[in-house]
Amino acid sequence: MHIPTLIERKRDGGTLSDGEIRDLITAYTSGEMPDYQMSAMAMAIYFQGMTADETASMTRAMLESGEVLSFPENAPRIVDKHSTGGVGDKVSLILAPLLACDDVWVPMISGRGLGITGGTLDKLESIPGFRVDLSQQRSLEQLEKIGVVMIGQTASICPADKKLYALRDVTATVPSRPLIVASIMSKKLAESLDALVLDVKFGTGAFMKTREDAEALGEAMREVGAAMGVDTSVCYHPMDEPLGCAVGNALEVVESLELLRGGGPADLREVTLALAEKVSTVGRSQLESWLDDGSALRKFEEMVECQGGDAGILTDFPKVHPAKVVKDIMAPNSGVIEKVDADTVGRASLALGAGRGRSDDVIDFSVGFDRIAKVGSEIKAGDCVARVHANSDADAALAEEMFWKGYRCV
Ligand code: URA
Repeated sequence: MHIPTLIERKRDGGTLSDGEIRDLITAYTSGEMPDYQMSAMAMAIYFQGMTADETASMTRAMLESGEVLSFPENAPRIVDKHSTGGVGDKVSLILAPLLACDDVWVPMISGRGLGITGGTLDKLESIPGFRVDLSQQRSLEQLEKIGVVMIGQTASICPADKKLYALRDVTATVPSRPLIVASIMSKKLAESLDALVLDVKFGTGAFMKTREDAEALGEAMREVGAAMGVDTSVCYHPMDEPLGCAVGNALEVVESLELLRGGGPADLREVTLALAEKVSTVGRSQLESWLDDGSALRKFEEMVECQGGDAGILTDFPKVHPAKVVKDIMAPNSGVIEKVDADTVGRASLALGAGRGRSDDVIDFSVGFDRIAKVGSEIKAGDCVARVHANSDADAALAEEMFWKGYRCV
């Protein structure tokens, strides 16, 4: 393989064969192909795109760069969901235990937050003792026992993606559709799933700003999933305002527990049920009753216990991570709320310390927003439209100032 020739071909709009893509990924993962050549290739792909066949080859090569989860022959249906991420999106925390009430296994491999979108692993780690670094053997034992495990990506799963994603992050090549498809789908396919539901977000707080872009990404992921034998469905959800009413790690666990107790915000419940329906063997009314009768909550508690946490503290979780300053943000005028911008709330939460600017930043679990009012609500001057949790008065003031920039009430 002569790498410059392949880069040149892609740069000029040509296509790469399955074997060539496999060789490139193998060479890059082993260190034989240097970062500077892969950077050039990623940029060529960014500008020229890839055909559906090339994208499938790329996904398969990345998947095969590492181990895949293996399950016993007689295992029940293996299901999962993936969200392209958004502000206040805590659906995984509710959906994974909800699905496990059904006769399926949910081996959910999640990520950490980076930038304005939160990460499921960070939210789970706000539960003291909760471990997300379980071995394959331990994960399998937990699936056999309770049907659900929520873990992080291990070094042995898709090492090619780990290396390539870090490179894309610093070479302005993240927003390339084929590279996103290969990155996301290789990791999900490594779970050896029978069924996968993809939640593709669009709007100010999402990766994809328009519904058209979201649909193009969703369709490309669905095609790759189907080609690899996974029953793949796609849902599209707007992300112009935060999902639910809480943003921030421990605050989102609190809100997830509300949902698992049969309450919680209507939009969060609707998205959770819409996604669950796509991969569950039962219908919506059964899923709803598992939320309302405490079955999903009990499953979540079992999972917390199995993964090293103490389910007892979930009964009064708001007390586990108290912020020093908790301040109501009051509406200056009466009217109907037209905008609570997800991107702005995400950035304000980041400024409070709820997320990471760099992958090695330490997260503050206690900070963020809750009681965020929903677009379309009618309010009176002086009503609370959000509550900020901060660790100093100065941080709270800054977060409030940022919040107003994304808020409109007429
Ligand atoms: N998430 C991923 O895992 N990979 C991408 O390329 C983009 C989002």
